[in-house]
Amino acid sequence: MESGTTRLRVFDKITIFHIALVSILIFSPPVLGDEDLNQPKTYIILTKKPESDQVSLESWYRSFLPTTTTSTTSSNQQQPQIFHAYKNVVTGFAARLTAEQVRAMKDKEGFVSSQLERTLSLQTTHTPKFLGLLKQHQGLGFWNRSNYGKGVIIGVVDSGIFPDHPSFRDEGVPPPPAKWKGKCEFKSKLCNNKLIGARNLQKVIKTEPPYDKDGHGSHTAGTAAGNFVKGANVFGNAYGTAVGVAPHAHLAIYRACSKKACAESDILAAIDVAVEDGVDVISISLGDNHVRLNHFYSDLIAVGAFGATQKGIIVSCAASNSGPHHETLSNEAPWMLTVGASTIDRTIKATATLGSGAEFDGESLFQPKDYRPTLLPLVYAGSNGNQSSALCMKNSLTNVKVKGKIVLCENGGGIPRISKGKEVKRAGGVGMILMNQKADGYTTLADAHVLPATHVGYASGLKIKAYINSTKDPKAKILFKGTVIGNQKFAPAVASFSSRGPSKASPGILKPDIIGPGVSILAAWPFSVDNSTTSISKKSTFNVIPGTSMACPHLSGIAALLKSSHPHWSPAVIKSAIMTTADVVSLARKPIVDETLSPADLFATGAGHVNPSKANDPGLVYDLQPDDYIPYLCGLKYTDQQVEAIIQRKVKCSQVKSIPETQLNYPSFSVLLGSKTQSFTRTVTNVGKASSTFTLGVSVPQGIGMRVSPRKLVFTKVNQKATYTVEFIPQSKAGMDGNRQFGEGYLKWVSGKYSVRSPISVTFA
Ligand SMILES: *[C@@H]1O[C@H](CO)[C@@H](O)[C@H](O)[C@H]1NC(C)=O
Ligand SMILES: *[C@@H]1O[C@H](CO)[C@@H](O)[C@H](O)[C@H]1NC(C)=O
Ligand SMILES: *[C@@H]1O[C@H](CO)[C@@H](O)[C@H](O)[C@H]1NC(C)=O
Ligand SMILES: *[C@@H]1O[C@H](CO)[C@@H](O)[C@H](O)[C@H]1NC(C)=O
Repeated sequence: MESGTTRLRVFDKITIFHIALVSILIFSPPVLGDEDLNQPKTYIILTKKPESDQVSLESWYRSFLPTTTTSTTSSNQQQPQIFHAYKNVVTGFAARLTAEQVRAMKDKEGFVSSQLERTLSLQTTHTPKFLGLLKQHQGLGFWNRSNYGKGVIIGVVDSGIFPDHPSFRDEGVPPPPAKWKGKCEFKSKLCNNKLIGARNLQKVIKTEPPYDKDGHGSHTAGTAAGNFVKGANVFGNAYGTAVGVAPHAHLAIYRACSKKACAESDILAAIDVAVEDGVDVISISLGDNHVRLNHFYSDLIAVGAFGATQKGIIVSCAASNSGPHHETLSNEAPWMLTVGASTIDRTIKATATLGSGAEFDGESLFQPKDYRPTLLPLVYAGSNGNQSSALCMKNSLTNVKVKGKIVLCENGGGIPRISKGKEVKRAGGVGMILMNQKADGYTTLADAHVLPATHVGYASGLKIKAYINSTKDPKAKILFKGTVIGNQKFAPAVASFSSRGPSKASPGILKPDIIGPGVSILAAWPFSVDNSTTSISKKSTFNVIPGTSMACPHLSGIAALLKSSHPHWSPAVIKSAIMTTADVVSLARKPIVDETLSPADLFATGAGHVNPSKANDPGLVYDLQPDDYIPYLCGLKYTDQQVEAIIQRKVKCSQVKSIPETQLNYPSFSVLLGSKTQSFTRTVTNVGKASSTFTLGVSVPQGIGMRVSPRKLVFTKVNQKATYTVEFIPQSKAGMDGNRQFGEGYLKWVSGKYSVRSPISVTFA
């Protein structure tokens, strides 16, 4: 491995920075260094705007950098380089700096903040491989009314795109609107009316065109706005039409990630450029799997998203894949749409049948046609008492007698599911039953395993273990049952991996906002994952990846449909429409469940499961203007400078009437209730029938009282506003069952076909 110093020297020889005002400049930085304090690292520096118009951003940003002559610290200190010069969503730049250089900058007039860059991940902790067909599961009627998303531009910040894929052909897609200013960095004519732009913002490899080498970016783009592709198939045995949510919307691709990692300064650059290019929706399927930030001002994706929102762009984000525990969200700012993941009504069924006759349904995508199920010896991989073996880690089965047997492996341990099957196969096993850990409960996933296998839930796994213990001669077989649609009992159910609230940075805002399809989602993939293929065109491949990464572009596509149908709706209105019309029951009209098959809490579901067709006609909406966030941010007790870092202009909280978080005009309520009654107002705007009367419906959370006034909202005009007050009144704790910490309820305004519903979560302090 090269040392940091060597890299730095090489780097220093090849670049001198110039900033062209119209474009973000990116230079190749060396690889990140070590713990040495003098070792430069990538920082994102936010500044005020230059006071005078005469000063170019170029020289303004450069004025913050130490000059070589004033740098007295060490002889080998390098002249810092600017990789990204931001100018749309924030004023500031990204550069490699030492901690000391950053400290020196803080004294300069116009400095706002410095942030050490984070590395974020694409939100797929699960990496199954599979070819298949997308069953479009949401209303066709709405497609027609929303023009298939025509005229709307979705900016996808991800790992790039595979432009040749038929999902990105432009049949039926008109030329981009006149406001479009973006670029296509692919050579030749790879962009078209569907794929109208593609840029690489990765400072490390800026010179590359934005090809997708991970697959993730093509998949998310295809999910949001892939065009119709006939004859998509699954291992050659299932045919159908694959299509994204907004098939006639335009796609603008911003590559900020590769090898599943994304540098924060590159993501911010992608948002900055997307805003300038003129996108309408930004889709961000990435987040921080490790660090939960307590403040929005130190989360530069949130800061960038705020800038985009100010320009009327809706930013749809993955909630992250760190569930099922509470407080595991990314992208939780109130101006972002935070999307959790749920199952769809389709399983790719594979059943494990034991020697006792007991059957356990599970899932697998690899279902060889010629497979003859026969009862074979069954062994638990962890029978030697070794945890590595139980998890079927690489080379862990060498001393376990698995030859010719079906092997029960445990999921988890950070090992990809398919790799576990590879280990079983390597050690001579002939089949695998993959059982969940307790936390993942009943969430199972269909993977392209390398041998006959089935993924079963935790409860099934325990029973299979008990069976193995109960007999001298345990046996099992695996039966493939193919695609089963109409698993209506539990769909949609929140997936175990979907991150949960409450929000750490703002517990007074209920997050996530919404859940959408994020399990067994099929969309474009740049390369064939099927080695046995005979007839499948390499250019027409598909793959399934579960993750909030897959749920997010569903919502991005839905936001595009709504924008096409209602061009003047603000980001807050689009969010409100999506949230207040969400489904809270499954297809079988039972409460939506989580991975335990118990009703999911509001920190898992937010407002519920998206219902696009209802979102198109919500009746009433909760709107917010960018300035409405200022009293909210001041209310979070941020300093003026911290608020300025987000708002990107001068703010004096002392002169702003700050508000408690829950007072923000949000379409849901998250109340932190102590011993005092709390009162909030909300303002709704009529976007339904001109003349209408809405009446109140309330489900009061356990342990509190509620008072809402007025109880009737009367409208005579479209776009007319009405305000109501809601009081949350603590009651004797005796009324609460046991040591319950949370209460749940809702409030809704009902008129004819409209039901404008806001979930209420109460956390007892
Ligand atoms: C789509 O909408 C048009 C008019 O907007 C209507 O004529 C047509 O019948 C609709 N098609 C479907 C399939 O609903
Ligand atoms: C468990 O197995 C792994 C892999 O075979 C081995 O490296 C490790 O030492 C074993 N642990 C114990 C406690 O035996
Ligand atoms: C199976 O037997 C082993 C050892 O006898 C024991 O540790 C384990 O708890 C048993 N498992 C079940 C599920 O009964
Ligand atoms: C397909 O082939 C490649 C290269 O030979 C190999 O790395 C990969 O594991 C194979 N995939 C499957 C699903 O067998």
